[in-house]
Amino acid sequence: MSLSKDSTKILITGTSSNLGFNIAIRMLEQLPNDKEITLIVTSRTLPKVKESINDIKKYIGEHIFAKVKLVEFDYILVDFTDMISILSAYYELNKRYVHIDYLFVNAAQGVYGGIDWNAAIFEVVKNPIEAVTNPTYKLQRTGVQSNDNLGLVFQANVFGPYYFIHKIKHLLANGGKIVWISSLMSQQKYLSFNDLQLLRSPESYEGSKRLVDLLHFATFNKLKKENNINQYLVHPGIFTSFSFFEYLNFFTYYGMLVLFYLARWMGSRYHNISGYIAANAPVAAAMGKTKQSLKVGSACGRTGREYLVYEEVDTTGMHDVLDYIDSLTKEWDEKLKDQITNSRQP
Ligand SMILES: NC(=O)c1ccc[n+]([C@@H]2O[C@H](COP(=O)([O-])OP(=O)(O)OC[C@H]3O[C@@H](n4cnc5c(N)ncnc54)[C@H](OP(=O)(O)O)[C@@H]3O)[C@@H](O)[C@H]2O)c1
Repeated sequence: MSLSKDSTKILITGTSSNLGFNIAIRMLEQLPNDKEITLIVTSRTLPKVKESINDIKKYIGEHIFAKVKLVEFDYILVDFTDMISILSAYYELNKRYVHIDYLFVNAAQGVYGGIDWNAAIFEVVKNPIEAVTNPTYKLQRTGVQSNDNLGLVFQANVFGPYYFIHKIKHLLANGGKIVWISSLMSQQKYLSFNDLQLLRSPESYEGSKRLVDLLHFATFNKLKKENNINQYLVHPGIFTSFSFFEYLNFFTYYGMLVLFYLARWMGSRYHNISGYIAANAPVAAAMGKTKQSLKVGSACGRTGREYLVYEEVDTTGMHDVLDYIDSLTKEWDEKLKDQITNSRQP
């Protein structure tokens, strides 16, 4: 780890995920070979940190020879459903670094309760592409709160990362870039303004991504003007996720993959399937190749040839969302003001 070393610092939340890993390796492939790179891996657990670092090191050794001697690793343990953990992560980063160049807000979670198999079969028979593009058969639990008494999905995907950025803004200032990972499924219908913590919503994951979209549009201009931070909003399309494996067996997993390829073959541009293609938009944004005023998606053709898609977002309600989140931020600043923490236990 390096406080003063002149390296490019990249922080990826949820590095252990398929997308997190692929963002890491694509960034390493695209950054120039004339400067060292510090990759700050995050996870909630040390074993996942170790696994992520080993996987990325292995990939560099096999595919990006020019970077073998240029990359060093650091890590932060952080759970975005725990405000003390977020504060600890901030303290650690603040101690170790004076600047962070890239922050990918990639970690996310839902509160899944399984799959409604009857609904899944019905949807697949009725419209197979729609069934694997906008599935409604993934069951999500309602009313789940964190130990901080916040809506769990709201805190994990929206408020936790927002508060983290609020704390480390000075490290990102003067040229840093933030890339928020949203989703295809962040439609307006998934968010009720009477339930911003998504406690009553049976689609809290989708609602959280709608909140991410609105927060991006409500803040990117101000971040640029006041802090010289460039913020981007992207979505990775649809790809295989490690987190949903637990609900699938051998047959249902390969059945899902077959449907994914079928959807792509029938013309669905968002069935990227591979995490590498899914990481196209996040990395293009980080490299400054996309516009901040549009949501940019990773897409591919029938043969897997990748390209970017630019989408307009209806931003109705973004100021209400920002006001709410900013007032919650003040509340938590007050609650945490005397907290002294140390995230690295001996
Ligand atoms: N899969 C898709 O088709 C798809 C589609 C649209 C958008 N996305 C978005 O793409 C991103 C990556 O998705 P994925 O499917 O690759 O991820 P995933 O397999 O579901 O993994 C989630 C990652 O987030 C981290 N995480 C989860 N809860 C956390 C918490 N409370 N605090 C800190 N970290 C937490 C996990 O880290 P640890 O377990 O190591 O702690 C893990 O690395 C997410 O933002 C997701 O919403 C995915």
